Amino acid sequence: MAQEDIFKKLVAHCKEYGYVFQSSEIYDGLGAVYDYGQYGVELKNNIKKYWWDSMVLLHENVVGIDSAIFMHPTIWKASGHVDAFNDPLIDNKDSKKRYRADVLIEDQLAKYEEKMNKEVEKASKRFGDAFDEKQFRETNPRVLANKEKWNTLHNRFSKALNDSDLAELKQIIEDEGIVCPISGSRNWTDVRQFNLMFATEMGSTADGALKVYLRPETAQGIFVNYLNVQKTGRMKIPFGIAQIGKAFRNEIVARQFIFRMREFEQMEMQFFVRPGSELDWFEKWKETRMKWHRALGFGDENYRFHEHEKLAHYANAAVDVEYKFPFGFKEVEGIHSRTDFDLSQHEQYSGKKIRYFDPELNESYVPYVVETSIGVDRMFLQVISASYCEEQLEKDTRVVLKLPPVLAPVKLAVMPLVKKDGLPEKAREIIDELKFDFICQYDEKDSIGKRYRRQDAIGTPFCVTVDHQTAEDNTVTIRYRDTMEQERVAISELGKIIGEQISYKKLFGKLQ
Ligand code: GAP
Repeated sequence: MAQEDIFKKLVAHCKEYGYVFQSSEIYDGLGAVYDYGQYGVELKNNIKKYWWDSMVLLHENVVGIDSAIFMHPTIWKASGHVDAFNDPLIDNKDSKKRYRADVLIEDQLAKYEEKMNKEVEKASKRFGDAFDEKQFRETNPRVLANKEKWNTLHNRFSKALNDSDLAELKQIIEDEGIVCPISGSRNWTDVRQFNLMFATEMGSTADGALKVYLRPETAQGIFVNYLNVQKTGRMKIPFGIAQIGKAFRNEIVARQFIFRMREFEQMEMQFFVRPGSELDWFEKWKETRMKWHRALGFGDENYRFHEHEKLAHYANAAVDVEYKFPFGFKEVEGIHSRTDFDLSQHEQYSGKKIRYFDPELNESYVPYVVETSIGVDRMFLQVISASYCEEQLEKDTRVVLKLPPVLAPVKLAVMPLVKKDGLPEKAREIIDELKFDFICQYDEKDSIGKRYRRQDAIGTPFCVTVDHQTAEDNTVTIRYRDTMEQERVAISELGKIIGEQISYKKLFGKLQ
């Protein structure tokens, strides 16, 4: 099945099984805003726990905070967001649709890449085991022609971005013959800058209300609390501050379900270091974060680092962790070496000293910062994309979410084989025993096969069936979601079997 079709199916699945709903759906929805349903919220909370504990529990020099969404408006002037948090937008005059100019060009680059990969795929099928991919990529004329186009476009695009040359971005779009996907025409407006921050008003004074912004990143809440945390926590450099919270961006083009939203959640960590050591820490955090992603077992080949074409105004190094979504490799997380830009700016704009006295060097300085920043919703989409599976069985197909058990919303379903003979009561007893440790579901409706399918669809890793033998010897069958294998175990063993499989500790073991 085409990847696009799979993606459509998984979006529909998220709705049908209570993971994600369009916001304000009964009013026809609100663009790029989503609500999480009964299972979605559990999965989201588990992702957040995985991230939070991996930062705060595993690193004794990382602590957390929870800062407000509203902040003093000068913060956004100091951070550069008022002047520079822009996307280059372009309109198609025929369809009246608006696009991000950089995204149109990135999509064109991806097309060249796709063409090269298709050639490789075809040749690999033709030559079988004898196929030498490296040699093929270096010599095949069609691959080389596309590589040449990719390189030329890439260089031109990087230069235009770095020079903030909007006219050149438009020229690239025209030269590449990029058409509007809706109208199919090349009738483009000029490229303009568009600020992504949402503004609102706070209170009212004689001079009028204060214009405040909904934060476009959680990071600034950490920077402006740097001194508070460093002093009250007696933190010594190097140390980090972690935060999970909502962020808001008036995205021009909101696409691909929860990939690009206008209201979303970030998990960010700012790591404060000695000036000059930031690039070493940048490398360390790159490695740590990649391990965190890979530990979930979605396949190492589905991750890659992507160097930024253009460094943000605050960074001296930046890389994205990309995951292979059904719509291609896309950013899930950014790791940035932000220099002393933010703290220095806040020093200047607030007039307060934001320094660290380093007892080993016997001097004060503005710390440098390495940031790791990941979107909860994008991570959620990564987990769902990696887990969604349609399996052909002997008689039918089953749709199953092969979620890592530690992240699954419901850990086990307990099912009486029939609705009589004391089996429902026994099933309830098991739930009463286990519900303090795991989210359990009781299900007695329909055939056992249908019940298994329902649990597969929401990703429940374990189903426990209570039958007539249970009353005799206190054993049940446990059925494993991924293999569909079943085994008979004592009820007293259930807690241990399930506990081991859903253990965060086991997952954290892979990060050490
Ligand atoms: N503090 C740095 C920062 O915000 P960013 O690369 O703009 O950097 C970090 O964002 C992460 O936040 C991204 O890698 C992505 O996972 C998530 N993110 C950004 N914009 C988003 C959006 N509109 N919708 C969903 N997630 C988003």
